[in-house]
Amino acid sequence: MPKTPRTAPPPSPNVWSDDRTLDPGARPPQGPLTGRPGRLTDMPFLLRQEERPEVVSLVPSWPKDRHWRAMSDPDHQYILFQDAEERVVGYVVLGGLTNGDGCLELVRMVAAPPGFGTGTAMARAVLAHAFGPLGAHRVGLSLFSDNACARRLFANVGFVLEGKLRDAVRGPRGYRSLTLMGMLRRDYQSGF
Ligand SMILES: CC(C)(COP(=O)(O)OP(=O)(O)OC[C@H]1O[C@@H](n2cnc3c(N)ncnc32)[C@H](O)[C@@H]1OP(=O)(O)O)[C@@H](O)C(=O)NCCC(=O)NCCS
Repeated sequence: MPKTPRTAPPPSPNVWSDDRTLDPGARPPQGPLTGRPGRLTDMPFLLRQEERPEVVSLVPSWPKDRHWRAMSDPDHQYILFQDAEERVVGYVVLGGLTNGDGCLELVRMVAAPPGFGTGTAMARAVLAHAFGPLGAHRVGLSLFSDNACARRLFANVGFVLEGKLRDAVRGPRGYRSLTLMGMLRRDYQSGF
């Protein structure tokens, strides 16, 4: 998979146009998903997803400039997934690409809309990418401990429960704990 472009121009509200995306109520994703590098024109899609009420409580939303910095940073890779009709159906952000030890982080993943197997397909594709072309040794992630759907998904695709950070994040309704999960290359190769 080609890398995310690194020479992004500075952010400006005028340079982003929208992409073909899957709006709530639209037909579910069609056919196999294809990953492609994220680009600045994906910004409205990213921001819109992170404003969805069911996402806000599970993935702390990043403002536009935070996304722009990450997208322009060689340490991160944005992967946008499209269905057979080229509608964008979700995204994953990987981190840790420049740390030199092959330990990557699945920083965030959002399916739009959820409940159609998109999350599972994206996770499998990202693991193949991480342990394939990226040559990762490990992929780790953290998620809010009350995110039962994501926890089930990541366990389904082979992530191992590694621990819990109690009261690690303070939100509007108090402290929340984070669950840590990870997968090593040998887990992946053994088919877990
Ligand atoms: C987490 C997320 C990416 C999953 O995507 P998705 O397309 O809905 O996932 P899938 O359809 O592949 O389903 C994943 C599994 O979760 C299960 N699931 C769905 N809702 C659930 C719930 N409330 N509790 C427990 N499991 C649930 C599904 O049944 C499925 O398991 P199964 O295959 O064993 O039946 C999506 O819900 C999302 O975007 N959530 C908001 C952002 C987020 O939480 N990101 C993850 C943290 S980085």
